[in-house]
Formats: sequence, C-alpha cells, structure tokens
Amino acid sequence: MCGIVGYIGHRDAYPIIIKGLQRLEYRGYDSAGIALFDGSDINLSKTKGKVEHLKKKAEESMSLKGGLGIGHTRWATHGIPNDENSHPHISNSGDLVIVHNGIIENYESIKKELTKRGYNFHSDTDTEVLVNLIEEVKKKEDVKLGHAVQIALSEVVGAYAIAIIDRNKPDEIVVAKLGSPLAIGVGENEFFIASDASPFIEYTNNAVYLADEEMAIVRLGKEIKLRKIKDDAIAYPNIMELKLNIEEIEKGGYDHFMLKEIYEQPRAILDTYRGRLNVDQGLIKMAGIDDNLERFMNADRIIIVACGTSWHAGLVAEYIFEDLARIPVEVEYASEFRYRNPVITDKDVVIAISQSGETADTLAAIKLAKANGAFVFGVCNVVGSSIARETDAGAYTHAGPEIGVASTKAFTTQITVLTLVALKLAKEKGVFPESKYHEFLIELESIPSKVERALESNALVEIIAEVHKNATNCLYLGRGYNFPVALEGALKLKEISYIHAEGYPAAEMKHGPIALIDQQMPVFVIATKKGHYDKVVSNIQEIKSRKGKIIAIVTEGDSQVKELADHVIEVPETIESLTPLLTTIPLQLLSYHIAVMRGCNVDQPRNLAKSVTVE
Ligand code: G6P
Repeated sequence: MCGIVGYIGHRDAYPIIIKGLQRLEYRGYDSAGIALFDGSDINLSKTKGKVEHLKKKAEESMSLKGGLGIGHTRWATHGIPNDENSHPHISNSGDLVIVHNGIIENYESIKKELTKRGYNFHSDTDTEVLVNLIEEVKKKEDVKLGHAVQIALSEVVGAYAIAIIDRNKPDEIVVAKLGSPLAIGVGENEFFIASDASPFIEYTNNAVYLADEEMAIVRLGKEIKLRKIKDDAIAYPNIMELKLNIEEIEKGGYDHFMLKEIYEQPRAILDTYRGRLNVDQGLIKMAGIDDNLERFMNADRIIIVACGTSWHAGLVAEYIFEDLARIPVEVEYASEFRYRNPVITDKDVVIAISQSGETADTLAAIKLAKANGAFVFGVCNVVGSSIARETDAGAYTHAGPEIGVASTKAFTTQITVLTLVALKLAKEKGVFPESKYHEFLIELESIPSKVERALESNALVEIIAEVHKNATNCLYLGRGYNFPVALEGALKLKEISYIHAEGYPAAEMKHGPIALIDQQMPVFVIATKKGHYDKVVSNIQEIKSRKGKIIAIVTEGDSQVKELADHVIEVPETIESLTPLLTTIPLQLLSYHIAVMRGCNVDQPRNLAKSVTVE
C-alpha cells in the first residue's frame, strides 16, 4: 500500500527521498510524487507510474535543492491512478503540502462543507480534502500547524499516516498516525520520516515508532514533540535502536513474507470492508454495484471465473450468493471456460477474481464473456491491473501487496468483498430477512478480531506441524462452506512443502479416498459447529475406525470432536457463511510451519510464479 518518506536536516532531501521511495516499492504502488522546499517555496512533482519515472520528471522540471521534503508512493483507493490523484497534495493557499497513507471515510461530507466555504478541489482524493480541512482549521482557529492537524484529525473518521509541511514554517514536519504505520528516524540534527525504517536505516539506527492516535512535531534543533491526538496528553518519544537489515524491515520482523501476510489478515479484512460496510445505517456501499445495480438484479445467473486460490474464493462465493441472494452461480476455471465454447448471454454477470489482476487465462475468459455480451465485474487486489482495466466494473480487495507466492490474505479479502456483494444483492432483492441481514453485518464487522483469535492457535499448530512434517500424503476434508477451505488447505501444503495433499468434500471420502487411510495418513477435517456438524462427526468416526490420524478444526468449546481427534485446533464461533474466514487461518499456518521445517523456500516455491501471465 502507500509509502511515505520525509526528510528535514543538513543534507539534500531529494536523493534521500527518492532512494527511500524505491526502498518502499515492495509495498506496491501505482504512482509517486515528491515536494521539496528550496529555501523560498515548495516545488512539487508527481506522476502516475514508477519512482524511476518520477525521478526523470522531477530532474527535468524542478529545483532539487533543499533540506526539507516529503515523498509518496500511492496505491489508489479514492480515484484512479493518474497524475492529479498522486500525492503530495497541496492546500488551496499553496501553503500546506501533505502525503497520506490510509482512507478518510467521511471525506465526502467534509468536502461538501469546504466547497461551500469556497475551496476548490483538483483531484478525486480524500487526501486533498484533508489538507484543506487542516488549512481551514488553521485559519479559522488561528492556530499553528501542529494544533490545526490535531483538531482536523479529531474530526475525521478513517485510517491515516500523514506527513505535512508548511512553506511558511520550513523548519518542521508534522506527522500523525492511526491505523497506518509511521516511523521517525532520529539522526544528528536531522530527522527522517517513513512508513517503515528501510528508507533511513543506512543513515541512523535510532527510530521512534508512532502509536495509533499519536502525532509528532519534528523540528530542526529540537527534540521530537509527541502528543495524543484526542486528549492532548504529552507522550514521551521512545527512541529504539534498530538492529534489523533492510530485508528484515520489509518483512516487518517476520521470517517470511507469507507469515507476515498471514498475520496481516485482520487488518486486510478490515481495510477491505472499511468505508463500504456501515452497520449503524445497515448499509453496504460499493460503487461498482450501485452504478450497475440493474445488471445484477436482472442477471439470470452469475458465472465466476478464476484460477488457483482465487478459484477457491469463487467456490465459497458460490455458496454465499446462492444461500443469501438466491442467484444461481457457476464457478469455472478460467482456463477451461475460455476453451470449452460455453453458453454466455447478455443476461449473465461474470465475476472475475484475481489477486494480481494479470492472470492470462482469467483475462482471456473476461474477453470471451464480454464478446458474448455478458457484464463483467472484477475482484482484484492490484489497482490499475489489466483485469481491473478490462472489466466493466469491480471492487478492489484492500489486502495490500501480497509478495509470498502462496496466496493467503488475498483469499480472505476476496471472500470479504464477495460476501459484501452477496449481502448487498440479497438486501436489494428482498430475499434475506432484515433481522438476519443486520446480524450478518454485525458479525462481519467482528471478523478481524476473530481472525486475531484464530491466529492465537499458532503455537499449537507448530506442534502439530512437527508431528506431521514428514508425511508424504495428506487428506483435507470439509463440507458446505468449508469444502473450498479443504481444497485451499491442501493447495497451500502442496505449493510450499511439496507434500501431496488432496482436498475433498467429507462425504465423498467414501467414494475413493477412504481407501488411502491408514496409520500414516494425517487427515485434516474442518468440523465447526455450524453446518453439517453431525455429518462431519460421522466422517471423523469413519476415519478413526481405519486408524487415520485426525487433526480437526473445531469451534471454541467443542467437546465431541475432542474425544475422537488426535489434535483439535479451535477457532471462534461465527455465522456458518463466515467460517471460511476463520477455518482457513490454522491451515495456512500449518503449511507454513511444515514448509519451514522441511527447509523449503516458503516465499518462492519451486516452479511457481506469483503472477501467471502465460496460459
Ligand atoms: C498463481 C499463484 C496463486 C494464485 C493463482 C491465481 O498460481 O501462485 O497463488 O492463486 O496464480 O492468481 P490471481 O493473481 O489471478 O489470483
């Protein structure tokens, strides 16, 4: 997601900021920009595309002098990736310049208010609204920048990490954080600002990490002034000595990107529904659906096309759409769909799911669907990707860049987006009881904290991984909503540990896989309370009587399966349709630990690619 870099000190800010932005490229972005104070005014350059492109543009068009500046890599949320929407954003007077990572959810109402007061806006971003709100507060209350930032931020709803400079006060940078990361590097009479320490680790090992709802005034020749945004309490900066290298910093202290991404899921799911789900008002806001509601309401059926893990998310979506919205759904491997001469009409809605937005087969399936008159809706993670551009409309997952080849947070955020779509359509069609709809919204909002709890199984999962790390075959079983989770669990193990694994609907076991079960065979069974529990318990008994080793994922407090299984891993209780978001967590952790124990290259498994752009 977005990256922030800033510098104030005795060196030239430009090379430090450009190099810092390059260090943050791993976070993923679609545009970049920089603002520098040259001694008399602030110069600005920003562009869609890579930092390399920004460098060329800046070097051709502006003065690169000065020891104060801020820079940004943008991962689009509000407004398409283009030059205007790129950061930094400048206030109407030209005094204030800001970079921002996050989402201001109530920006539309603030924008309306500011427009009434004569403010003009040149981009579609929430960030330009924020910088002008700060300007308005500063003027109206006649306060200094730090104070204005504090007042303005107590009016906004959302998440942010910001760095802001004032051309009339070029000896300071004001920063603040809620939800998005921000670090201050402390040097000898110089300060660095960044989303993580990688842009400044070569200059200083001393850093202050802002906590949520904290802001700081970083002033040349002074100590950092840190305070709480809400109650004005002064906080003392805790200067830490960093001992990490750059690669370790990018991995946020985790040994592998995959583990980092597994642990990011509570945040990623929250970012995905943030600004879309309003529980108090009972509303789901998704522009891609709102603007094309007729197409969805008149659809004879939905066809989902995808590959790999995204296809598994599509299978979960099939259950949700049919269960909640009563719309018939077919889920197709994009590679099969594109070549099998399928029947497609202009009454079909095709949903293409893709983390990268670049998968060649999915892209070809979209073109085929469009050529036959279908309306195509994309669910992608990478903003501005080919699939995002090729589809008629869509909704992004806000998982942030996924770097580990084995997909984890993309899967859970895809399910989150598709659940929002299904709920929205269910409500529009009036086929889902209002009380249940409301209960669903509340429960969806609680999922990030429940995922946190599911992640607490990590130590137990590690023990189970140790027991089974030398298995040569594994079976994964689930029913209903958790059948796709069984497929996904098996895929994760295959991908990164090279152990043969199969996912099966639990009841189908009798039609073949049961012949494989013996004392050596670990069988992972998803047996949560909601959804065919008794049937799954019978399946577990069948495995036990053939001496298979049973590892069950159960609902917290379960006692029946505990009696039968060799190991149980508990996940919190939730509505049946949302269980995949929880049951998948221990299975991701399990494949991760087994792969590490077997000495496999977790983030870059052999023969696999993150983005498959050939068919
Ligand atoms: C590759 C990746 C998988 C991914 C699949 C589909 O096989 O290794 O993790 O699920 O492609 O990718 P997409 O980007 O379209 O979701």
